[in-house]
Amino acid sequence: MFTINNKVAVVTGGASGIGEAIVKVFLAAGATVYSVDLSETCVEGAIPLVADVSKEDQIEAVLAKASEQTGHIDILVNNAGIQPLGLTFDEVTYEDLTRTFEVNVNGIFFGLKHGPRFMPESGGRIISTSSFVGLLGIPAGSAYAVSKAAVAHATKCGAVELAPRGITVNAVAPGTVLTPFVTNIPDNPEIPFVTQRTPLGRLALPEEIAAAFLFLASDEASYVTGVVLPVDGGIAAGWEAYDLPPFDESITKT
Ligand SMILES: NC(=O)c1ccc[n+]([C@@H]2O[C@H](COP(=O)([O-])OP(=O)(O)OC[C@H]3O[C@@H](n4cnc5c(N)ncnc54)[C@H](O)[C@@H]3O)[C@@H](O)[C@H]2O)c1
Repeated sequence: MFTINNKVAVVTGGASGIGEAIVKVFLAAGATVYSVDLSETCVEGAIPLVADVSKEDQIEAVLAKASEQTGHIDILVNNAGIQPLGLTFDEVTYEDLTRTFEVNVNGIFFGLKHGPRFMPESGGRIISTSSFVGLLGIPAGSAYAVSKAAVAHATKCGAVELAPRGITVNAVAPGTVLTPFVTNIPDNPEIPFVTQRTPLGRLALPEEIAAAFLFLASDEASYVTGVVLPVDGGIAAGWEAYDLPPFDESITKT
């Protein structure tokens, strides 16, 4: 077992899916866990805090509240996110783009900005949720994919900037995970599309993603920082070619 016993953790998006699985595994490993979400729903044993991660004042307020109650925060997981998939570049509206970036990018930026203030003098862990689509180009998902690439890059900037404080900053880049976000869409075309292109031949369970968060949050990960860890059944190692239309030979003649 990786060690986070008696640590204080704040997990955003803790009410559902990957966040819920992270809350559960952190509780089982002996941490005190605050679950931050738009929803008051919370895993039994965790402490619910309602906030919208896209609002800087709300993030600051929940971090301050958790720290007031416990003295400090050891682990911050920036996991809350929205996933507007299925939209090509020409279909993405200004509103889609803005909201995606407000939640997925600004939300984790605020965590990196304010989290360290509530961490011990030396030490701390910040872990964010990126995605395999932040590492690879995908069709019909650019707003989401670009937001997740920004999460990966913010992770590297944070690792370098916060290293002198002894705070490690990492991210997990999951493949497609069987969470309500994916399974609630009737006949979700992402399920066969990604399954077919995943070397391990199946989608992930939330617990398989949460295990990577536990490692990165633990004392044992003390020398790991700036990493964007794919937990994706091998997709990032070998995403298969799409069924693209035949290459237009005339292009090479111009
Ligand atoms: N499910 C996947 O296939 C997959 C793959 C790669 C990355 N991710 C990422 O993992 C994270 C969790 O996704 P999930 O699949 O568990 O989704 P989910 O919808 O099951 O859970 C997301 C949670 O975040 C909360 N949330 C959404 N917007 C919020 C906001 N503005 N403020 C506070 N909380 C908010 C929701 O209420 C929900 O409880 C997201 O960042 C997502 O982009 C998911």
